[in-house]
Amino acid sequence: MTASTDPDPNSVSQAATSEAPSSASDARVSDRDDDITLQSRWDNQPPTNTDEAAVEPYELPPLMQTSQGISVESTEGWERLRRPEIMERLTQFQFGRTPTAPIVVNYNVLERGVESLGGKARRTQARIEFPAEDDLRIRVLVLTPADADGPVPAMLHLSFMPAIMNLDEPGIDEDLAWSGELEAQVPDREAFKLSPFEIERFIDRGYGVVLVYYGDIYPDFDHGNAEGVTRLFGGDGNPRTREEWGGIGAWAWGLSRVMDYLENDPDIDAERVALSGISRLGKSVLWASAQDKRFALTVPWLSGEGGAALSRRNYGETIADLTNPERYHYWFAPRYQEFAFNVDALPVDAHMLLAMLAPRPTLLITGSEDTWSDPMGEWLALKAAQPAWELYGRSVPEETELPAPDQPIISDLAYVMHDGGHTTKPIDYEVILDFMDTHLK
Ligand code: GCU
Repeated sequence: MTASTDPDPNSVSQAATSEAPSSASDARVSDRDDDITLQSRWDNQPPTNTDEAAVEPYELPPLMQTSQGISVESTEGWERLRRPEIMERLTQFQFGRTPTAPIVVNYNVLERGVESLGGKARRTQARIEFPAEDDLRIRVLVLTPADADGPVPAMLHLSFMPAIMNLDEPGIDEDLAWSGELEAQVPDREAFKLSPFEIERFIDRGYGVVLVYYGDIYPDFDHGNAEGVTRLFGGDGNPRTREEWGGIGAWAWGLSRVMDYLENDPDIDAERVALSGISRLGKSVLWASAQDKRFALTVPWLSGEGGAALSRRNYGETIADLTNPERYHYWFAPRYQEFAFNVDALPVDAHMLLAMLAPRPTLLITGSEDTWSDPMGEWLALKAAQPAWELYGRSVPEETELPAPDQPIISDLAYVMHDGGHTTKPIDYEVILDFMDTHLK
């Protein structure tokens, strides 16, 4: 399976110019001539760097020092001073502000405890509905082991595919999905196809599985904010303000609403819910867990640039690639694009995003051949983030060198680089389940 919905990510040229950036987001909101000028900055770029020897030296913003120069040496200092400061910068400069205006949310439970997976699981399905926009709904599929005698810990997976494409059995809540390519709704079964999430592995080990389709939260195309949950907060497809949220902010928000639902589901132990997502959805689960401490354990899978990989390291995808006006700028706050050609000025980097998850168990999964996502960049971000886990007395990797493929490094902050590319592998599931056994059983 490839997790990428990008036909050939490596064909996207990398941006590099030494000119000082103008305010990119200002250009986005201006007229067409300016848009053309802006786009030209992304044209004719040198190829993506995948040569370790060509990585230039860089300096990361300090993790354990406040903007006032105070060094943080206690969990109190971290929680009270530094963590909120970093959250604010991630909000302003990368993901945008998550709205907090109150909205009405209903949980419509469609069925409960129906036999599933040939009898080994019980199935519950719900729709999270928003009366203010009555055609919006987030479908939630919950599976728990049939022999469970109380609430179980679970894996909540944010999927690229609607439930029916992960589990094709009668009674699944089948409806419309979004085609990013057509920018239109299509029947669920016509959504972009990847390998299904391996539900049974979790059920067999005594865990619940909760599946949510990302398109129900936010359709994955530019101006998707006129269609997704962003509509509830005024998203209308017009150019966004500099710090307005984008797709990743919306996907993360949706996951928190699913967590609200799970807190009311008697079959799930909401204090033991792990969260996973792949690729762009790996970026999204990082941001979801950063903002919402109810997620007990997090598995960003191949999250790469804008996720767990250091942006200052010029290897694989860059912020310029991500925020190219013809690519994925709409996942982020418009302001992030201002750093496309000036990454050293970005007040945050991936180690700071990761540190927001401390001290909760966190497992990074990368692929040895997934150069676009920069597995080394994720390892170095983990190493730079580990002081946050150490403050709480949690275990962190002692190794300093990048681990060999298929050699998991397991501590409370953990890393595995599977042998292979931008895809899921059996070892990923094995490591996730062992990690969940250690922390959630
Ligand atoms: C593209 C994009 C990546 C992203 C990936 C995915 O390759 O450049 O940043 O992670 O799509 O979500 O599959």
